[in-house]
Amino acid sequence: MLKEKLIKKQPFERKIVIVTGGSTGLGKDTAKYVVQLGGSVCIIARNVENLKKAVNEIESLKVKDDQFVEMISCDTTKMEQLKPLLTEFIEKYGIPDYLINNVGYAYAQYIENLTLEDFKRNMNVNYYGQLIPILIILPYFMKAKKGYIANVSSMSGYIGTMGFATYVPSKFAIVGLSEVLRQELKPYNINCTILYPPAMDTPGFKKENETKPKECFIIEERGKLLQPEVVAEIFIEGILKKKYQIFPGEAKFIWRMYRLIPRYVRYLADKMYINARKELGKE
Ligand SMILES: NC(=O)c1ccc[n+]([C@@H]2O[C@H](COP(=O)([O-])OP(=O)(O)OC[C@H]3O[C@@H](n4cnc5c(N)ncnc54)[C@H](OP(=O)(O)O)[C@@H]3O)[C@@H](O)[C@H]2O)c1
Repeated sequence: MLKEKLIKKQPFERKIVIVTGGSTGLGKDTAKYVVQLGGSVCIIARNVENLKKAVNEIESLKVKDDQFVEMISCDTTKMEQLKPLLTEFIEKYGIPDYLINNVGYAYAQYIENLTLEDFKRNMNVNYYGQLIPILIILPYFMKAKKGYIANVSSMSGYIGTMGFATYVPSKFAIVGLSEVLRQELKPYNINCTILYPPAMDTPGFKKENETKPKECFIIEERGKLLQPEVVAEIFIEGILKKKYQIFPGEAKFIWRMYRLIPRYVRYLADKMYINARKELGKE
């Protein structure tokens, strides 16, 4: 539930927000909050049916008639397809105020079962799938000397754990890019945010569970599964405060501990892994 004070303020009034990966999960909830707070959105994803469903849901939250909810069906890893579609959108509506990049997935699997293609696919979607919309919109932001880029990483963007060999490097990569954008775009009045969500109850998470090694389930029992709307609210509030890093739920505590006492955090994480193996009769 969005804070009453924020709803009254309507901080996204007359703002245009592009949300990649906005048809389900965290992206959809983020788009819903933008609209509730007065903004217009364009959601981008591949599946047209899901996009249409999401547009209906998001549109029902409009607070004023002049708000719009648009959709673009496109794979964000395909520069040659996305560029003309976004250019057309900008010609129609003007330069967006925010780009919020949610596109991403985790393919959880034992490392011995992974192929080079699995690594390339995950990097392509999670890194290039967020980079490409940035590359398309950045020249407009730089010319206008304003703009906001918010990218979604994960707790896997600062700590590596078993079962996520293809995912973790891709989430570190988007953090690395955001680090550069944060600094280099300052003179252009372009802000950058990076979100580090813990596990969230989304369609993406359900899919991830289909291949996840048993050890991961045992390790994750200790963590709290957050609802995407809770994370979306923290994300939106952080963006409005122009926070560079946003750590929802336990992500903050673990980040701090990992910075202060890395060896101890690694020791605990390794212990959890070994205990999980013991529970499965592997040790
Ligand atoms: N759920 C978690 O536990 C968790 C934890 C930490 C971080 N995250 C990160 O949070 C973000 C959102 O995750 P989620 O769980 O909400 O995912 P989700 O429910 O699977 O939603 C992903 C969205 O991205 C779209 N998408 C995926 N690949 C795309 C592509 N190549 N081009 C365009 N659109 C694409 C999907 O639609 P189409 O499939 O129709 O294209 C959908 O709209 C991801 O970056 C994920 O890595 C998730």
